[in-house]
Amino acid sequence: MDFRLTEEQRMIQEMAREFAQREIAPIAKQIDEEESFPFETVKKMGELGLMGIEIPETYGGAGADPVAYVLALKEIARVCASHAVIMSVQNSLVAYGLWRFGTEEQKERFLKPIASGKALGAYSLTEPQAGSDASNLLTTAVRDGDHYILNGRKAWVTNGPHADYIIVFAVTDREKKHRGITAFIVDTSREGISRGRPEKKLGIRAAHSGELILDNYRAHASERLGEEGQGFKIAMQILDAGRIGIAAQAWGIAEAAYEEAARYALEREAFGQKIAQFQAIQFYLADMSMRLEATRLLTLQAAWLKDQFLKRGEPRRFTREASIAKLFAAESAVWITQKAIQIHGGVGYSREFNVERYYRDAKITEIYEGTSEIQRIVIARQVLQRFSEALGV
Ligand code: CAA
Repeated sequence: MDFRLTEEQRMIQEMAREFAQREIAPIAKQIDEEESFPFETVKKMGELGLMGIEIPETYGGAGADPVAYVLALKEIARVCASHAVIMSVQNSLVAYGLWRFGTEEQKERFLKPIASGKALGAYSLTEPQAGSDASNLLTTAVRDGDHYILNGRKAWVTNGPHADYIIVFAVTDREKKHRGITAFIVDTSREGISRGRPEKKLGIRAAHSGELILDNYRAHASERLGEEGQGFKIAMQILDAGRIGIAAQAWGIAEAAYEEAARYALEREAFGQKIAQFQAIQFYLADMSMRLEATRLLTLQAAWLKDQFLKRGEPRRFTREASIAKLFAAESAVWITQKAIQIHGGVGYSREFNVERYYRDAKITEIYEGTSEIQRIVIARQVLQRFSEALGV
């Protein structure tokens, strides 16, 4: 087994790291304080190819692989988790969804501007009563000749307040339950759409999420993503990819907290010596390092499996590995950022230092794109299915 990165993977990672240091680091604290969406730097990320890393160049992307994608995303998250989630939604939910499930015409029309970063995308499954219980949708899409009429209220749409195109899931046949859900590509410049104000959040404050209200929005049949009734499976398959992105985001946040904690421990003195000399601090750093290493390997493995799945085009999915990576990365990020504050002591609690931001930002990775409890359900179902198939029970 060879753990070395390819030349291209290393180059993309370095480019993302250099960009994050030069362009994002100087504004990260300020945009968090002001809760302001970073339009300028997001535009530059598009110009650098960071908004469609895995998408072939013919569709406006960078044509790299899923491993390069998670490495780049981790570097952005290491500096600013808000930029990272904007990038993750654009790449793993929207661009990936359009690429895998879109028609040739949809790829020309929607994927090209999304993957090149000229347009911003969002993914809208959640509703006020349908978070973890994702198939419990009330939004409807009723066929009317060549069109569908969409009505309903979507919630927590990340990038939604500014998105040009949104993948929206709606019920076309309630009798069929989850098999009666259909996906649509909604153009927010058209009539029939209004958007609420961005939510006030604990963390990732510069990434905006909000309500989307559909009031007799007319989607042409050519704007349906996939077939009627396939929407729920499309939503789940897109989330398999999304969860790897969130693992990379959690990895980046955790790495930043760990590095700052180690640096601080080597500088700060107490009781006549550097606090890094105390075993209590060393144990924290050792556990942080161990969790980070496992996060890195799980995230890279899930990305590599996704690459294999896409290349081989066979049904061996990466659902379990994506959920394991996301679950472990998220819980580790919360643990590591919390210990980073502990190592910093009082100043760690101050907004003068970055670690409190990392702590606030890490928390969401245990919630969005499926809570940690949902990841455990997904993993357990996969495990039981494999055993029952193997044992014939
Ligand atoms: N790939 C392919 N098919 C899948 C699948 C997958 N990963 N997961 C489920 N399916 C299929 C099942 O095989 C089943 O197919 P059949 O119709 O042939 O039986 C069908 O989908 C229904 O599956 P379940 O019976 O497992 O459905 P469920 O209602 O029990 O739900 C769940 C399962 C895992 C709990 C799911 O509802 C879920 O993932 N919930 C969490 C939702 C979530 O992650 N939301 C995040 C919103 S987006 C977001 O957060 C973005 C952001 O802001 C950044």
